[in-house]
Amino acid sequence: MRAIVLEKFGGLDSLVYQDIPEPEPKAGHVVIEIKAFGLNHAELHMRRGEWAEAAPVSGIECVGIVKSCPGGEFPVGAKVAALMGGLGRTINGSYAQYTRAPVSNVALIEADLPWAELAAIPETYATAWTCLFRNLEIRKGQLLVIRGATSSFGQAALKMAVNAGVRVIATTRSRERFAHLEKLGAERCEIERPDLSKHIAEAKQIDAVLDLVGNSVVLDSLAMLRRGGRSCLAGWLGGLDPIPDFNPLLQMASGVYLTFFGSFVFGTSGFPLSDVPLGQIAADAAAGKLDVKPARVFRFDEIREAHRVMESNEARGKMVVVHD
Ligand SMILES: NC(=O)c1ccc[n+]([C@@H]2O[C@H](COP(=O)([O-])OP(=O)(O)OC[C@H]3O[C@@H](n4cnc5c(N)ncnc54)[C@H](OP(=O)(O)O)[C@@H]3O)[C@@H](O)[C@H]2O)c1
Repeated sequence: MRAIVLEKFGGLDSLVYQDIPEPEPKAGHVVIEIKAFGLNHAELHMRRGEWAEAAPVSGIECVGIVKSCPGGEFPVGAKVAALMGGLGRTINGSYAQYTRAPVSNVALIEADLPWAELAAIPETYATAWTCLFRNLEIRKGQLLVIRGATSSFGQAALKMAVNAGVRVIATTRSRERFAHLEKLGAERCEIERPDLSKHIAEAKQIDAVLDLVGNSVVLDSLAMLRRGGRSCLAGWLGGLDPIPDFNPLLQMASGVYLTFFGSFVFGTSGFPLSDVPLGQIAADAAAGKLDVKPARVFRFDEIREAHRVMESNEARGKMVVVHD
């Protein structure tokens, strides 16, 4: 089969096309004929060698058709999504014609949508849904700040929060992107800045923060919450550096909660994929209640261009690759 192999850590030329053997059927696993796959920041970090683990074939998610499933958990020919479970990290991932994912990390996704739209759902929407409705336990009428809202993750969270009746303040570094975020339902926007808590009018009245800017603003996110409010740290758009000289006694806001979510836990015992209503999300998209259309669609032979666009923040939403 054709696969995009990470030949070395580094720039765009690290991604090379090779013919490698197709994955064989294996107990506890599903071999999937990949129809399309979403692109993720994780794959940039893996390509650059910034993460502890990177498999030769990158790609942490895909959608496609079941080719084999020896345990019978999924019927051959079913339309499925696969995400995480070591894909692209410890086992070969989705940058290929076929992949083999653990059963625990596969879900039926049968909605009548084009592959490009289905491919935009698994990782982004599963993670955004979990952060909003599990970690933050956000509810109708509450006030949520999404930091890094123009990211594909941020936009997915914004759309689902708005559909759930949540009031959202969205941040971006560019004022030109306010209109887009407001069109998606944000009540208003703020320019993202490291000391936002000192400038936002609703400081100390905010119920929840979905923090995708990350370590560099963790403490600032906590500082804008009301007593009992929660911040969910789930993205690192501001960089991967740890919080320098962290001293909770001097730096932390009182009476607030910090929670973290990393999608690598999907499929483990505490975080079964069945917890996430992926099928319902896809059904809502097919019914026109949720717009999951990707911002950019690339062909399989355009992976370097796709990574370039992701690296330069030009995508303005989810990017997917579709097989011909
Ligand atoms: N926790 C998890 O399991 C999980 C799962 C998926 C993704 N993530 C993480 O979530 C983040 C978003 O991922 P994505 O794939 O959705 O990203 P993406 O779509 O590529 O995000 C692009 C956006 O990031 C913003 N941005 C770039 N650099 C920034 C900076 N220094 N400070 C603030 N904003 C910046 C830009 O917004 P503006 O130019 O408009 O400011 C740009 O529109 C990433 O850090 C990713 O690793 C985490």
